Amino acid sequence: MSVVKNKNIIVGVCGGIAAYKSAELVRLLIKQGAQVQVVMTHSGKEFVTPLTFQALSGREVRSALFDLDAEAGMGHIELARWTDLILIAPATANAIAKIAHGMADDLLTTLCLATKAPLLIAPAMNQQMWRNEATQENIKCLSRRRAVSFCGPAEGEQACGDIGPGRMEEPDSLLNSCLSLLSSAAKTDYKKQRLKGKCVLITAGPTIEDIDPVRFLSNRSSGKMGYAITEAALNEGADVILVSGPSALNAPENAELFLVRSAQQMHDKVMNLIDSVDIFIATAAVADYRPVKKFDTKIKKNTDQLTIELVKNPDILTDVAALPNKPVSIGFAAETNDVESYALDKLQRKNLDMIAANKVGETQGFEADNNELHLYWRTGLDKKTGIKSKKLAYASKKQLAEQLIDEIVLLFVK
Ligand code: C5P
Repeated sequence: MSVVKNKNIIVGVCGGIAAYKSAELVRLLIKQGAQVQVVMTHSGKEFVTPLTFQALSGREVRSALFDLDAEAGMGHIELARWTDLILIAPATANAIAKIAHGMADDLLTTLCLATKAPLLIAPAMNQQMWRNEATQENIKCLSRRRAVSFCGPAEGEQACGDIGPGRMEEPDSLLNSCLSLLSSAAKTDYKKQRLKGKCVLITAGPTIEDIDPVRFLSNRSSGKMGYAITEAALNEGADVILVSGPSALNAPENAELFLVRSAQQMHDKVMNLIDSVDIFIATAAVADYRPVKKFDTKIKKNTDQLTIELVKNPDILTDVAALPNKPVSIGFAAETNDVESYALDKLQRKNLDMIAANKVGETQGFEADNNELHLYWRTGLDKKTGIKSKKLAYASKKQLAEQLIDEIVLLFVK
């Protein structure tokens, strides 16, 4: 039975050309047995008529905050309590900005403010509007809220002729996000215990390879993904050890924290602790190389050219996954291109149980608050075949961490 069956869902339709796709989305939700109440903004009605949505949902479309007749039926506060999920598709930059700032100047934004239900936002806008710092600030601000998730936007050709991020996700992908959101909400009751008695070791952040007392080699990793996974594992009752490179973040209180600087230190600490570990999640962006020699004093610029010789660092994940009693070993692969093929190569080569791959881009990957993950795992002993995969749609790292832990529990924890 679909998790959507008999669920009450508000579909908010704002003013964007993608509004026509929301008609299909409403049809899919109804087909799965949901009760759908469509709420349109005034500009939404410029793109698709309320009649279309009324015919598909079997309910009169709501739009005005001060509609005496509609309010006499189910007032806006009752509607906010009635719903199990608010899905805004398409969500314009304007609607996102209003919700981020707690504004409530129409029915849809008022419902968002008045509900305890989760909010799923499917942004749709011109790529420049999406990239605008103001929009990105609003997305960041919403991503930090527990009950808010994002699906999309996708990249590609836009109605205005531009190419870039800002296309609304397709209805079937939005439906999948609804399903996963509602099913994780349904699990909340028995959650927090599924990793009880298990020890999870997580590496996070960058490593720093010193060149001299003032210079070093490092990378852009912030530690956000690893710290969010730490939090999610703690919420499931795990004993969590966090081995972290330098990060500006505060470590989750209940994790056992070991701060390290270099890849070698991270390697030594992990190998020291690994015996009691059931699940190892390597999110750290470990420097592949370190200078052969660390200078004791600051290098002076008295030559035109300077060569720093580098030597390869140990691969922590490979070493853990090669242990005779290896824990469930999960790696990350951040790539700028050919994400899938590099990820699958790492899955095999490092003998992993799962790899979480993501593309490093302007709004995702290193330093960003949001990400999109593709999980790949093996279903059999044959290393070449039997690969399964799952996409965790663009969302905050906090939400992705919860989904990742969910998948790990389902696949690897008896
Ligand atoms: O080989 P690559 O660095 O791309 O692999 C990435 C994965 O391996 C990540 O999970 C990372 O934490 C882990 N890794 C490691 N030790 C290294 C390099 C990478 O644990 N020296």
